[in-house]
Amino acid sequence: MPALAQKRSRPGDKGSTARDKLRKSLLKWYDHEGRDLPWRLREGRPDPYGVWLSEIMLQQTTVAAVAPYFARFLERWPNVEALAGASRDDVLGAWAGLGYYSRARNLHAAAQAMAAGGIPQDEAGWRELKGVGQYTAAAIAAIAFDEPTNVVDGNVERVIARLRAVETPLPDAKAELRALASELVTADRPGDWAQALMDLGATVCTPRSPKCDACPWVGECAAYATGAPETYPRRAAKPERPRRYGAVFRIERNGEFWLVRRPDKGLLGGMAALPTTEWRDKKWPRAEALKHAPVAGDWKKTGAIEHVFTHFALTLDVYSAETAPPNDGWWGDASALPTVFKKAAKAGGK
Ligand code: ADE
Repeated sequence: MPALAQKRSRPGDKGSTARDKLRKSLLKWYDHEGRDLPWRLREGRPDPYGVWLSEIMLQQTTVAAVAPYFARFLERWPNVEALAGASRDDVLGAWAGLGYYSRARNLHAAAQAMAAGGIPQDEAGWRELKGVGQYTAAAIAAIAFDEPTNVVDGNVERVIARLRAVETPLPDAKAELRALASELVTADRPGDWAQALMDLGATVCTPRSPKCDACPWVGECAAYATGAPETYPRRAAKPERPRRYGAVFRIERNGEFWLVRRPDKGLLGGMAALPTTEWRDKKWPRAEALKHAPVAGDWKKTGAIEHVFTHFALTLDVYSAETAPPNDGWWGDASALPTVFKKAAKAGGK
């Protein structure tokens, strides 16, 4: 056997050469095509507070939706002490419209924990904080502390499933995809690596129509080679979203609405809201709905709105009345309401 071939076939060598090629081409792509995002620094290490804040906001939420909230939060609460010193209601109000409100409650609790006990310096430390799961801890440790963690979110799962044409359907494939992703991580530029994979997933290796001609991995991609890359990752059939029904009560005065605070536990916990019936799986006939009105009055149905949550779709009948408000609650602007109630506030029938 010629010396060169012998050298190439040493265990590990061939694999790491292929890995290095993948790493090099993706990092080069990231240097030129990676997105300029407000929480990203191209040189040096970013402030862990900003990285943490952005990663919490980016959980299940798009970059476009997050950007203005991120800017407003940083301006109002520029560091962890400032956020810890804010009232919880102010933080929840500033979060209104971004969705998944337990994130705001956890953010505030985690800020108070950090103000008291210091900012964690590694993945394990971040994992201890409320609202910081496996993915978020890994992302913060990589981006803000240069730790070579394995950062796997939905985008990364899709990229890896395609690169390797993984046939196991999600969610069963999660462990396999994590293991495959970890084979590509090294101590070189871990934060950039994580964000390069995320950007590739978000801008090129997109769910429906991947832009394979713009992909630095097109030559190595096993799913591309099958001719149908968009059919990866394989997925187990999803059960249909159930539908629930409710009625909300809209009392308006000079452009403000009578608001109540939702109980801490449960969906939209602790958020400002319009008074509402329970949300259940059968419709609310008018007479039954009005038994739950916050005050007696001349309630008129002024509309109905639709809203889709992760686990169910909701139809809300909107009743409006010009009436004195009940005791519990306050007059407030619709801008501090979660989207579902903002929609209802607009359904005034005028
Ligand atoms: N999604 C979540 N975190 C992200 C980040 N740091 N960059 C791009 N997309 C992301």
